[in-house]
Amino acid sequence: MKPSLKIIVIGLPILFSMDLILAAKPEAPVVHAEPALKDVFKKHFLIGMSADHPQQRRASLLRHHANAITPENGMKFYSLRPSPDVWNWEKADRTVDFATANDLKIVGHTLVWCYRMSPWVNERIASGELDKAAALALQDEHIRQVVGRYKDRVKTWDVVNEALADGPGPEFLRSDPWSDLCGVEYVVEAFQSARRADPEAKLLYNDYNLEFPDKRARLLRLLALLEERGVRVDGVGIQGHMQLSRLRLAELEAAIVEIHAAGYPVHLTELDIDVYSRGEGADVQRIETGGDAGYAELPEELQTQLAAGYGALFRLLVKHADKVERVTFWNVDDGSSWLNNWPVKGRENHPLLFDRAQQPKPAFWEVIRVAKEPIP
Ligand code: G3I
Repeated sequence: MKPSLKIIVIGLPILFSMDLILAAKPEAPVVHAEPALKDVFKKHFLIGMSADHPQQRRASLLRHHANAITPENGMKFYSLRPSPDVWNWEKADRTVDFATANDLKIVGHTLVWCYRMSPWVNERIASGELDKAAALALQDEHIRQVVGRYKDRVKTWDVVNEALADGPGPEFLRSDPWSDLCGVEYVVEAFQSARRADPEAKLLYNDYNLEFPDKRARLLRLLALLEERGVRVDGVGIQGHMQLSRLRLAELEAAIVEIHAAGYPVHLTELDIDVYSRGEGADVQRIETGGDAGYAELPEELQTQLAAGYGALFRLLVKHADKVERVTFWNVDDGSSWLNNWPVKGRENHPLLFDRAQQPKPAFWEVIRVAKEPIP
């Protein structure tokens, strides 16, 4: 082989490998000058964020501020079980590995969310192939597999998410194929399966709109029913998807006090403050078209309102820190928020403490200021 050709041939692998090295060159580590939320609140409650195996700048922000993490989507039934014979563990494993490597408490989210089941499950219910007994057996197998896989590293689970109906009507459970087929039995058996799979785990029930008395009454009815059936629930997740135009802090305080008085520690599990007005709740099926055009940059006036809103919220949470075990933000920074696609797809939202450049917003500094106030 002529030397020139040999050099080219040899050269190619070197060039190629250089590309790989350059491409894989990690970003310079981000230095965070701002105080860490987990530190300023460490005497009160855990600070969490939701993410699926966050990368670089988001990972850095999460590591700096949080001591808990909730996988946003990777541990859901439809992610893990896209089809009957496929278990897709890769996404969840990467998040658990990231959390373990960074000493983050992991909240397994969520073992059963019947409103967002894999399409194949709903198809089998519709065809009659899946009857109640088979559905409950499928649920038990799912919980055994998932809790069993992460037993040593995930010690808190959102066992059932959003089982309850909304509104003033007589309905108890939210209607969807799974709950219509199984009734409240699926909630009872989900907690029983999770308890069998890991007797030491902290098992939570998680829902939105618990600030509304009618939905909270359903929650207390469900908890009493579970207690009658000998099922221990270790805490309740109030999701906390709030709106700047109607924060409902008095209602949130009533919910925290009443749920705790019923014997359940409270977790604020999915906190964000939507800067646009929308209907109530976090029902992901309701995608409104149109709505506000949205802001690429949040106007000064709304930044100030958002800061005041987060300040008042954290003042309330510190006041009830004896009842609140954890405060988890849903997502890490504005750029990663689910609200950039709900209820209006692609409308930029600004619901969190950090902007799209992962920089602290005025709301962050107001929360820090509140954390340093003397406790009332
Ligand atoms: O990953 C697929 C992608 O491959 C595909 O091209 C794309 C097409 O739309 O969909 C992608 O999946 C999306 C998934 O998020 C991952 O981004 C789903 O469509 C979308 O429905 C899903 O939305 C998630 C939603 O739960 C439903 O699972 C949101 O990110 C997540 O923030 C949201 O979180 C829920 C909590 O789990 C429970 N409480 C309410 C909260 C907000 O809805």
